[in-house]
Amino acid sequence: MSLTPPAAVIVLAAGQGTRMRSATPKVLHPIGGRSLLGHVLATARDLSPGRVAVVVRHERDQVAAHVQELDPAALIADQDEVPGTGRAVECGLSILDSAAQPAGSAGGVQGPVVILAGDVPLLDSGTLTALLEAHHTDGNAVTVLTTNLTDPSGYGRVVRDGGGQVAKIVEQKDATAAELEISEINSSVYVMEAAVLRGALGRLDRDNAQGEVYLTDVIELARADGGAVRALATEDPILVEGVNDRVQLATLGAELNRRVVTAWMESGVSVVDPATTWIDVDVQIEQDVTLLPGTQLHGGTQIASGAVVGPDSTLTDVVIGAGARVTRTHGSSSRIDAGATVGPFTYLRPGAHLGERGKLGAFVEVKNSEIGNGSKVPHLSYIGDATIGEETNIGAASVTVNYDGVHKHRTVIGSHARTGADNMFVAPVEVGDGAYTGAGTVLRRDVPAGALGVSGGSQRNIEGWTISRRPGTAAAEAAQRAAQDRGDAADQHDDD
Ligand code: UD1
Ligand code: CA
Repeated sequence: MSLTPPAAVIVLAAGQGTRMRSATPKVLHPIGGRSLLGHVLATARDLSPGRVAVVVRHERDQVAAHVQELDPAALIADQDEVPGTGRAVECGLSILDSAAQPAGSAGGVQGPVVILAGDVPLLDSGTLTALLEAHHTDGNAVTVLTTNLTDPSGYGRVVRDGGGQVAKIVEQKDATAAELEISEINSSVYVMEAAVLRGALGRLDRDNAQGEVYLTDVIELARADGGAVRALATEDPILVEGVNDRVQLATLGAELNRRVVTAWMESGVSVVDPATTWIDVDVQIEQDVTLLPGTQLHGGTQIASGAVVGPDSTLTDVVIGAGARVTRTHGSSSRIDAGATVGPFTYLRPGAHLGERGKLGAFVEVKNSEIGNGSKVPHLSYIGDATIGEETNIGAASVTVNYDGVHKHRTVIGSHARTGADNMFVAPVEVGDGAYTGAGTVLRRDVPAGALGVSGGSQRNIEGWTISRRPGTAAAEAAQRAAQDRGDAADQHDDD
């Protein structure tokens, strides 16, 4: 946390992002379970600024709606048709100024303003805090976050004067051959005094190769006005890398994931194969959890100590209790309590809740259902809109028939019940505590506690049916042979 929070943060997010080749605005593309802009807004909030303003233009409504959702207190600043980062900051500052004061009075935002790019997702608040500290300690008008790249092409180069201060930043397209040799680049992340910005922004021109209002030109004006401009170079270039295309999106996504996975291992989580384990930034994992290869943990998934998850499991917003075992499972918005086992090949849909020590086995799908402590649905079943008590066993291949084509209905099954294989629970229907049901039962009526529910008449066999009704088939031939064998056996018996 910075000692003095910044007066404001301006996030630049008006750019088009052409190279993404996407109908979705660039800053809304996700990595690590958050949009690029979501990462930047979270980092901005970590600094506890007075205000946050997001500058928008391209796909303005989509971006603004996303900002409102993530950070309702953030201000939306619309950039006009004048292009360039300088104009973007001018639009941001003007919104901040009108929010900071009653209309008509003088003043506006005072103190340091942090400027961030909406497409630089890995920048952390620690680095920004260091930038703010350097800004305060050195009494700078402008402090620029920079880094050194072996291939600086495309970026603005940082031209330093003899005293180590920043003389100017020159864009690739405007640079001389000598300036192109400079490896220190502008990250487009700054701390600038509001008064310095206010004094300079109105004086910027578009006299450059791209015909844009360059924010970087503030530096020369600030210096001419007697301000100090210094740069802080980060040793970790990936922190300031922006996303321009989908290759960079994947690269930064993978790097973010490596960092998240590494942090969990350092905090006591066993990750057998970090390369195939994906963990979103908001996931919570306790010590001594083991993640097996091919595990993807998304959203607000939480895993308690001692649980083993994977291999090949994708869980979104799933809460897993201590010591649970979740194997080859696809789940979302579900709860698996302590000591329970799930999988392999289990599908948990929203609202599935398995109690402590419960079991869901292979090819079982559960939706919007409470399954009590110690209860089991071991094989090949669909449990939807159901409430199942404790220590109950559901027979293989059973289905809660919850949908009549118009409405969904609930199935309620008590505790210590034993339902037979291949049962159809035609909801709404109730099975009481300790009740049993026979195999193949179609439950259209409630089964009282302690009763045995069976449906269908007794079995009737029509002898010789295959041979008479399916003559010439392999089945008929098999039946013929079986009849022959029976006859032979009978003959033999007669001889005895
Ligand atoms: C900018 C910097 C360059 C730096 C580079 C780092 C300038 C003149 N140049 O260049 O020195 O090395 O970033 O990536 O500032 N944006 C707006 N409105 C605009 C233009 C841009 O909001 O009119 C936003 C973009 O959405 C993006 C950020 O500003 O988030 C940077 O814009 P971009 O076009 O990537 O700047 P560069 O030309 O790459
Ligand atoms: Ca850029």
